[in-house]
Amino acid sequence: MKDIIDELELRRDNARLGGGQARIDSQHVKGKLTARERIELLMDENSFEEFDMFVEHRCTEFGMEKTKVPGDGVVTGWGTINGRVVYVFAKDFTVMGGSLSQSHARKITKIQDLALRNRAPIIGVFDAGGARIQEGVDALGGYGEVFARNVQASGVVPQISVIMGPCAGGDVYSPAMTDFIFMVKDTSYMFVTGPDVVKTVTNETVTAEDLGGARVHTTKSSIADRAYENDLEALLQMRRLMDFLPSNNKSGVPELPSGDSPDRIDTSLDTLIPDNPNKPYDMRELILKVVDEADFFEIQEAYAKNIITGFARMEGRTVGIVANQPMVLAGVLDSDASRKAARFVRFCDCFDIPIVTVVDVPGFLPGTAQEYGGLIKHGAKLLFAFAQATVPKVTVITRKAYGGAYDVMSSKHIGGDVNYAWPTAEIAVMGAKGAAEILYRSELNDPVKIKARIDEYQARFANPFVAAERGYIDEVITPSATRKRVCRALNMLRTKQVENPWKKHDNIPL
Ligand code: HXC
Repeated sequence: MKDIIDELELRRDNARLGGGQARIDSQHVKGKLTARERIELLMDENSFEEFDMFVEHRCTEFGMEKTKVPGDGVVTGWGTINGRVVYVFAKDFTVMGGSLSQSHARKITKIQDLALRNRAPIIGVFDAGGARIQEGVDALGGYGEVFARNVQASGVVPQISVIMGPCAGGDVYSPAMTDFIFMVKDTSYMFVTGPDVVKTVTNETVTAEDLGGARVHTTKSSIADRAYENDLEALLQMRRLMDFLPSNNKSGVPELPSGDSPDRIDTSLDTLIPDNPNKPYDMRELILKVVDEADFFEIQEAYAKNIITGFARMEGRTVGIVANQPMVLAGVLDSDASRKAARFVRFCDCFDIPIVTVVDVPGFLPGTAQEYGGLIKHGAKLLFAFAQATVPKVTVITRKAYGGAYDVMSSKHIGGDVNYAWPTAEIAVMGAKGAAEILYRSELNDPVKIKARIDEYQARFANPFVAAERGYIDEVITPSATRKRVCRALNMLRTKQVENPWKKHDNIPL
């Protein structure tokens, strides 16, 4: 019996070595951890249970029968993160570059099936070169099965992808169908085809970093939601993120104890808005002062900075925050900001996370670049997402809410449940100057007259009271009491029940 147990331990030790010590050392030299080291850091101590450690590929092409490695390039299993069950798979780059064989795919689909059946989140850690070239269509078929499960699980359990090495082919398409993608700076790349293929096909010379590094995907393509300095930081931040997320679409948001009083008043908010309406202020400051313990997990912080999206808690319960940022492009809505916020709103709605929207928006960005780029359709995405969301929606207008952007930003008219405004709010079709110049074009060359018209429009519409008189704003609140009012509103809305009419699915303007 002892011999048999010793044999088991030997087999396990062999499997844990993956592609061998030399390749493990090479990972470390590159500043990367191994698949197993990553899982250890990600999951609660001693909670990880590995499945399929001895699975091998069955390929016999190109002499592959001689290069079998137990585990076949992916470590899979389940464990807990801060006590909650999470399924995980981590690609092992030391084994044939983490490439995917049919057997490797089956290990992943087994974990995906368990996550879906048991309604728990799944995290994929990617460091891999896509379909195993030697396996041909078996590998492609394997990816197809992974992709199909990504789609099935979408909106049922949170799916998170962490990119921690060079990733190509299926190892970028599968992440692209998950809810969030995170990268590590300088060691992770995502591309459909790498720099060598790019050179051959388009004769373009480009580095891996410039083609698909973390900077590209967090600032230009918006494929990645955030990037971290190293593996350790990325994994610890994933643990933090999981605390904000529900386990599935029916579990409700996690409730954490909070030492931050819901009645906390912050008098500095009463002077946040500058006297000059054209001067910016930092919306992030407002968010940090309103949410529990200033704890805010920002999503896509480096992309379309004119809108802020992220998770926070109010009275210990997760909320999604969507807020215009007057510090960047005056907080205008453009195509990028609209797409960024629309996707975030839809994630929150999928998973029953209430949305708090903070509005200071001068409108949609005019111009040919925006129109040619499809601003109408991209702006409509955000309008569609807010209007469709049935989760509790609380809106606070701090300053400008002009034009179509007023409607879009979770207004009463598209289903805002509780709509507050600060006394500094200006709710109008446009700013006073623009309005007067259109309405009184004939008086444009008389500066005295036009100034009087601007002042008249300003006095009539640059306030929240016209909207409040009509019930479009439920209450004009004191800025310092914002946290208290939003907490109360969210509490009142805990029992909200709304159902959209039956449909197979909607037809959001993609
Ligand atoms: C088999 C692979 C492999 C693959 C890498 N390796 N990718 N083996 N199939 N797809 C092996 C290498 O041969 C090498 O083995 C080891 O992994 C490490 O790879 P290196 O190239 O030495 O590492 P690096 O220089 O860091 O480059 C990593 C890489 C590159 C950028 C991922 O390997 C690469 O471009 N690989 C091919 C990517 C690709 O085109 N994949 C197919 C995508 S199609 P040795 O033994 O030498 O150490 C696809 C279809 C899915 O995925 C469907 C999509 C819709």
